[in-house]
Formats: sequence, C-alpha cells, structure tokens
Amino acid sequence: MTNYKKIFGDAVDQVRKEGRYRIFNELSYSNSSPPRAYSAKYNKEITVWCSNDYLGMSQNNLVKKAAINAIQQAGTGTGGTRNISGTNAYVAALEKELADLHTKESGLVFTSGYISNQATLSVLGKIIPDIVMFSDEMNHASIIQGICDSKSEKVIFKHSDVADLEEKLKQYQIDRPKIIIFESVYSMQGDISPIKEICALAKKYNALTYIDEVHSVGLYGNRGAGVAEMLGVNNEIDIIQGTLAKAYGVIGGYITGSKEIIDAIRSYAPGFIFTTTLPPAVCAAATASVQHLKTSSVERESHKVAIAKVKAGLVELGVCYLENPTHIIPIIIGDPSRAQQISETLLSDYGIYVQHINFPTVPRGTERLRVTPTPLHTDEMINYFCNSLSEALIKYDIQSTKLKTAA
Ligand SMILES: Cc1ncc(COP(=O)(O)O)c(C=O)c1O
Repeated sequence: MTNYKKIFGDAVDQVRKEGRYRIFNELSYSNSSPPRAYSAKYNKEITVWCSNDYLGMSQNNLVKKAAINAIQQAGTGTGGTRNISGTNAYVAALEKELADLHTKESGLVFTSGYISNQATLSVLGKIIPDIVMFSDEMNHASIIQGICDSKSEKVIFKHSDVADLEEKLKQYQIDRPKIIIFESVYSMQGDISPIKEICALAKKYNALTYIDEVHSVGLYGNRGAGVAEMLGVNNEIDIIQGTLAKAYGVIGGYITGSKEIIDAIRSYAPGFIFTTTLPPAVCAAATASVQHLKTSSVERESHKVAIAKVKAGLVELGVCYLENPTHIIPIIIGDPSRAQQISETLLSDYGIYVQHINFPTVPRGTERLRVTPTPLHTDEMINYFCNSLSEALIKYDIQSTKLKTAA
C-alpha cells in the first residue's frame, strides 16, 4: 500500500535539509496596534519591521470605517462569482476608481495580486495563440506561473537589461505578436526597472507591455498610481497590474487597460470567472484607500522620512544595505542559517520582527533581511532598530554585504 504519510513527511524533510523549512510567526493585535504586535511564542510585545502594509493604511480610520459601513449595509459576502450574483456596486465602484487611477479605460478586480497576474497572463496565450512572452528573469512567481499556464513561447531576458531584451526581440518577425512583462519595483532588492526604455523597445518591435506595479501603487506618483505615473508613462503601458494588499492596506488585485483588453480578460480568464467576488467590506475599504491616497501625500511624505532615517541610522553604524532608490531596505547576510539566526535573535532578544528571506524567494548566497519602514514607526523605534541590528550583527560576527542593484 502507498505510505502517503511518509511521502508528505519526506517532502517536508527535503525542505528542512535545504534550510528552507518555514515556521510562521503568529502575531496578534488585541492589545496593540501596528507596527507593535503581541508574539505568543515569545509572550511579549514586539515591533514589526517587515510588513508590506507600507503606509499603515490598514490602520487608517477612513478605510476602516468604509469597511464597517459596507458590512452593516451589505453583509460579509457577495454570494457568487461576477457572472452569478457577485457583481455589486462596491466592486463596480472600485474598478472605476482603479481605471481612473491609472488613466485607463477599464479596470478588473481579482481576489489577489497573485491571481490577477496568473489569470491574466495565462489567458493572453489563449486570446493571442502565437504570442511570444518576454519576461524579466526576476519576475514574481505569479507572473512565471501565468506565463507557464499560457503555454505560449517564452523568452527570459536578463534583469532590467534593455540591450539583452532588444537582442532577443530582434530574433522574431516584426509582425509576430509579442508582450514584454516586467515589474516597476522589484520587491526583494528594491530597484526600479527602466520603464521608458522598455516601452520604447515595445513600440519599435510591435510588442504589448505588461507591468506589475504591486510594490509601487499607493507609494509613487502624484496620485499614487506607481512608478509609471511618476515617470509620466502610464499611457505607454498596455496593461498595468497592481495589488490592494500592500500600500493600500486591504486585499485583492487588479489589472487596468483599454476596454477591449479588459473585456477579453473578463470573458476568458478562469481565475476571474470561476471564483466568488471580493466582499463589500474589502471593496469599500480598498476604494476608500485608493481615493484617499490619490489626493493625500501626507502618508507618502512621512514614509520617505522614515526610510531616510533608517538608511541614515544604518550608515552611521556601518551596517551595509543594498542601495536602491525605493522604500525597500535589503540587508544581505549571504547564508540561510545565519540569516535565520539573526532574524531569531532580533525577535527573541530585542523584540524586533524582521523576517529572513531565503531561497527560492531570493537566489542562494544572497539570503537577506528585508526591512520595510512605515510612517507608523516612531523615531524611538527607528533608533532602537538600527542599534539592535548593529549589535546583533556584531555579536554573530556577520558583515552585511554591499551589493549593487541594477538601478
Ligand atoms: C511582484 C509581485 N507581484 C504580485 C504579488 C502578489 O500580490 P498579492 O500579495 O496581492 O497576491 C506579489 C506579492 O508579494 C509580488 O511581490
């Protein structure tokens, strides 16, 4: 007989052997609010330094009130997929808001950023059967999965390397359909892609463009539409994808584009068609968050101040981090066990939670701590964090490495 228990156990053992076994750090917020939290494991209050709720919008009163009001009006669920009974005023308003944010004709909301990438890219291959997909080598797992599921021909270009991309585009007939898929801010190293140059190549070689702005929406541009807005190239990109789960502090993902593109994805993508719509509270909270950050720069400005303070504090103490122009501060440890050791020490001895990031999320040998300051971190928290990290690195004789990012 098949020993299923053993098969599962062996699979996990393999992960353990590779030093990649993950233990979740359970936090609760009953007596504290972010970035403070209670850790049951350590039975104490800690400070979170690795959240993607970049602006603390999950704590914003307007956003919370919008969710509460929506629950009181419409309840907790939508009762169906968009085709059955899930299309309601809350999700329609959110899609309108997102289309306006990115100055596109239409928007389409999915249950997560992951699903929006996977569902959209996988179905593009069905809508345009002979399309070639050009994908940056550092693209997120959800993009890679979508491209694989599309069964389209794929070409991987070197990270943010415009010359390599052009060399690869040249290999194909000009009239063969193509799409270039890339991110604006790469989340593990915080570099920004050469968006303008990629758009110029797309024009030259007859390609569509698809940008993942998951780590930049809410944060960059005058209205928080991301790096494309900041650079004034929103209209040169065919599909802009984003999340509502990070800077907007809620959950869900989306794409925006021309009405023809969005209508086609809406009509063909199983990851959109066959799943229940996000609940009213989520859509209302996300709409409030997007609306707020369209006009308020207060959060973006105080975010920048907090980041500058952390970077300056680390420099003063001689702690190296990967230099980049964004809000992500990667501290390269370069070894999985040591990265884990430093992360655990920070939590147990200093009450600081900063998750270590190991392979496969980052390449082997570049294991790191990924620090994300928010406007909710006070000066006192920032000073304590920098000093504690420096002390812990010295204690274990760890030299964080100075690697250069692409941009
Ligand atoms: C670049 C990128 N795209 C997409 C996603 C998925 O977004 P979500 O967390 O909303 O599913 C992530 C998640 O971290 C990401 O880093």
